[in-house]
Amino acid sequence: MRDRVEPTTVSGPEHPPSAKSHVLTVGHFLPYGDPATKIDSGIGEVRLWRVPLDRSEAEIAWCRALLSSEERARCERIRHKQSAQRFVVGRSFLRQILAETLGCRPQDVPIEYDGAGKPQLPSGSGWHFNLSHSEEWALIGLTQLGPIGVDIEKVRDGFAVEPIAQRFFSPPEVADLLTLPAEQRLLAFFRCWTRKEAFIKAIGLGLAYPLDEFDVTLLPGDPPAIRSVKGDPAAGAGWGMYEVPSPPGFVGALVTPTPHARLVVFDHEDI
Ligand SMILES: CC(C)(COP(=O)(O)OP(=O)(O)OC[C@H]1O[C@@H](n2cnc3c(N)ncnc32)[C@H](O)[C@@H]1OP(=O)(O)O)[C@@H](O)C(=O)NCCC(=O)NCCS
Repeated sequence: MRDRVEPTTVSGPEHPPSAKSHVLTVGHFLPYGDPATKIDSGIGEVRLWRVPLDRSEAEIAWCRALLSSEERARCERIRHKQSAQRFVVGRSFLRQILAETLGCRPQDVPIEYDGAGKPQLPSGSGWHFNLSHSEEWALIGLTQLGPIGVDIEKVRDGFAVEPIAQRFFSPPEVADLLTLPAEQRLLAFFRCWTRKEAFIKAIGLGLAYPLDEFDVTLLPGDPPAIRSVKGDPAAGAGWGMYEVPSPPGFVGALVTPTPHARLVVFDHEDI
């Protein structure tokens, strides 16, 4: 399900020097600080934002001002300039979205990390988010349902599909992949990859969770689903899995802790 929302101008602490404030909007933004502006999102809904990460130097500087000192320090440690800039823009959008939700300034959003490094809001907030980035796109999910996982990946040509699938996918997933004609395998591979990543990100353990202990669907006609966890189909059916409509050349996935959720996808106006 897709819901396009007309973006309005960000009401932030200051606008980027280029005055191109419109390019920094995502969905609808409301003034910070007023409790009446908190999002009243229905339980059962997952909001998803697709964020283009490549921005002008002026916009990046504006985004950087919204980060915490720890995030700015982390950015300094990223040697590749474009990767560092994309991190800044992704984090800044995340902070703006969470700030709107909590009714505070982006700089003041209390992002914490659990033992496995998953960023999260304090448990009392009732909100859960997850972020993924691949090349020039990020995907951000926000919900009150419980812990979620999102993943976006660029479909990279020339990828060694079969050996990597043999290494990371479960035996039923590899078997499914190999039933497909060669020209369909690349997309099916990334479909499977993003679904698996979204699941381990929902759990929050990252790669500490064995990737071959659960099976996801990947064939073109099969709805997104976790077919089983540790061989138990009922355990898989307790989760929700969705393919997120993504920019051309990208695949996105969302995993929710309940089987049914309403997805609302917010687009940047440039898409
Ligand atoms: C860290 C990991 C959770 C996701 O990494 P990734 O897919 O490379 O990168 P993504 O962009 O999708 O996700 C990274 C974001 O997830 C969030 N994240 C970090 N640790 C997390 C965790 N334990 N659980 C959930 N989310 C986490 C962060 O917001 C991070 O972004 P940031 O570093 O800019 O803050 C982990 O799964 C990993 O290292 N994966 C490697 C890829 C791989 O081998 N996949 C095999 C798939 S079959």
